[in-house]
Amino acid sequence: MCRHCEENPVITLVSGVQLCKKCFSYYVEKKVRKTIRVHKLIKKEEKIGVAVSGGKDSLTVLKILHSIYKDVPHIELIAILIDEGIAGYRDASMKHAKQFCESLAVPIHIVSYKESFGFSLDSVVKGRKPCSVCGVLRRDLLNKKAKELACDKLVTGHNLDDEAQTILMNQFRKNVAMSARLGPMTGIREHDAFVRRIKPLYFLSEKEIMTYAYVHEIVEDFSECPYNKVSYRNRVRELLNTMEEQYPGTKHALVNSFLEVLPLLKKEFSQQKGQIKKCSSCSSPTSKDLCQKCVVLEEIHSQKNVL
Ligand code: FES
Ligand code: ZN
Repeated sequence: MCRHCEENPVITLVSGVQLCKKCFSYYVEKKVRKTIRVHKLIKKEEKIGVAVSGGKDSLTVLKILHSIYKDVPHIELIAILIDEGIAGYRDASMKHAKQFCESLAVPIHIVSYKESFGFSLDSVVKGRKPCSVCGVLRRDLLNKKAKELACDKLVTGHNLDDEAQTILMNQFRKNVAMSARLGPMTGIREHDAFVRRIKPLYFLSEKEIMTYAYVHEIVEDFSECPYNKVSYRNRVRELLNTMEEQYPGTKHALVNSFLEVLPLLKKEFSQQKGQIKKCSSCSSPTSKDLCQKCVVLEEIHSQKNVL
């Protein structure tokens, strides 16, 4: 029975509390509002770009932000979708994202790899790790489009599970500098070249988002990117899920203890100002000669017969 109203429960939270659809929806929406307020994610007058993929996380965050801000003056929501070119997956999710945005009257802007880089993700994955290529190029296009549309913030659908995975991946790979950029608001400091990314679903688990998306019929198809199966992230995800099953609360504990040290990490890395240079190819800020995007593109273009 639901803890508050004795209706049938739709979920058992990690605390053991059971909630019905209505009370669970209230719980989720309240958590998002609190994350925005406590972590100062959105100011009073802002244009907010929401990165949508057509999946459960991005459409859930869009729906909740829309319900919070639809009648708030001076807050504008727009959606941005990146079409990487993934056969059998992206077309259907793109169609769904377009319909979903239309139903909320949120304008959607679509940017494709093909138009921007001259190739689709499918055509360059052979012999490479798809997620490493995709992660870097997607981030670049999202930032570029958000800048072009004069967005003040860029919302992503990252949830608690995503963050827990990234924290562990960075630890496993000895990548402290990358961890310093994490948190509900990413990055270390403001920079003109980047639109600040924010994660309103930061404190909600994948199970919670999945349940919310299911009971609100936000997505019908819960399938994921086909390249996900072979990713390092997926290995870490399985590992964390096993731990969570045996020791409930593991993911929350990991993220919350990380948040305790995050201010120290941000402080430490913000002091290393001297290291910011301009990419010699595209002028983006970077700590090396070439930014990551240009490294990836150069490597791809050097293998001429791949394209
Ligand atoms: Fe990595 Fe899609 S390319 S999950
Ligand atoms: Zn560059």
